[in-house]
Order: sequence, then structure tokens, then C-alpha cells
Amino acid sequence: MNQTWNPEQYDQHVRFVSDLGMPVIELLDPQPGERILDLGCGDGALTEKLTEMGCRVVGVDASPEQIEAAKRRGLDVHVMDGQALEFESEFDAVFSNAALHWMKRPDDVVAGVNRALQPGGRFVGEFGGYGNIHSILQQLSLALKQFDLDFESLNPWYFPTIEDYQKRLKNSGFEVRSIKLIPRPTPLPGDIMDWFEVFLPAFISSMNQQERLQFYETLKQPLKPVLYKNDQWEVDYVRLRFFASL
Ligand code: BEZ
Repeated sequence: MNQTWNPEQYDQHVRFVSDLGMPVIELLDPQPGERILDLGCGDGALTEKLTEMGCRVVGVDASPEQIEAAKRRGLDVHVMDGQALEFESEFDAVFSNAALHWMKRPDDVVAGVNRALQPGGRFVGEFGGYGNIHSILQQLSLALKQFDLDFESLNPWYFPTIEDYQKRLKNSGFEVRSIKLIPRPTPLPGDIMDWFEVFLPAFISSMNQQERLQFYETLKQPLKPVLYKNDQWEVDYVRLRFFASL
């Protein structure tokens, strides 16, 4: 099973994901009237921001549930796999926040973005980069072993180095104007169990309810000394932020 999304859970427990997307919008520097594709738009929180800034925005996401939530905001959004984009020379810019790490065929993504852009178009985004959620990955791998499961075969994420992503962009014909890794420890609004519930479905689909709870406990205990600080959970995010153009 791959990642599944519950828009209510997302809104309640991990709204910080879109709230923290504003620096990426600033890097994009969208101009009124520009045609922008929001790649992996989720429930449309940032698609809505771009629309409010006067842009003509189309959002796409692989999750029908998130697209339904985005439609309730009155946005022009479609269910579409970011690894098989269906646009031809239609956009001034492609924007993406916290989505590209869910797409494990990055060359297909970059090629589709290239096709979707007009000459001179820009591709601006941020997602999980090398070192992202390092402590969680370590403990996840160990906890899965205890449940006779293998991290690599279930891993839904791609967290590249600068060199890796830069090379893919260049090979597709982009000029990379800026690219950097940004450590961004992020406080959670509640318990880390809520984060597990939202982001770990790909790992627990073979477990029954009791096993899932045991698994979450197995994962949580060793993470507490590392990620629980001053009465709050803090996830060790590292973002890869880039600006590329054709
Ligand atoms: C991220 O935004 O970096 C992320 C979120 C959930 C799971 C993995 C990565």
C-alpha cells in the first residue's frame, strides 16, 4: 500500500507543512497573471495563496481525497500522478512544496515539469532532502525488523543530495540558479503518534490494529530522548530548496 491521505487528519495534525511553505512562494516571486502549476498541491492551502496573489493556478495531486478538499476551496485542481504530468508548454512556473519526496521516479517528474513549462519557465520547490528525518528513519528501520518487515522495500520516500537533484535538473535542460539543504527542526503541535498516523501508512498496511499500536510504541520510545525537547516533539526535517529555469 502507498501513502493514503485523510484531509481532516492532515488539517488537525500537520497543517504546519503548508504553513511553512511561504519561503518557497517568496523564492518563486509569483507575478499577477502568471500561469502556475502547483505540483503535489495537497488540500490546496498554497494553491489558494497563489490564486489570492493574482496568479492563474492549476493544482495537481495523486490523492483523490486531498483533491476533493482542494475543490472545496473552489480551486482548479485535478487528480494526476506527478510522475506522468499531462501538460504541454502551458505554464510560466511550476511550484512544489513538500511533495517531491513522495515521487520515487524523479527523472519522470523533472521531464514532465520541463514539458509543462513555456521556454524560460521556472521550477521552484522544496522537499525532503538528504538527512531528512534521520532519527526517525534509523528507528523505523530497526522497529520494522522487529516486525519482520524490510524498510527498503516499503520506503515511499526520496530524499536526495544536492548533487543528485542538481544533476537530474541539468540533464533535463534546466539551469540551476540555486539549490541548498536547509536543516529545519520542526516542532509538532501534538504527539508524535499523530505524525506516525499521518505519514506512516505505507509501513503498517500488513499489521492489525493491535500490532500497529505496538509498532508505534516500539518506534516512539527510542525517539523520545532524541526528539522530545522542552515538553514538545520536534521532527528533524531537512529541506532541499531549489530554483531552476529553462
Ligand atoms: C517531509 O515533509 O519531509 C516528510 C513528511 C513526512 C514523511 C516524510 C517526509
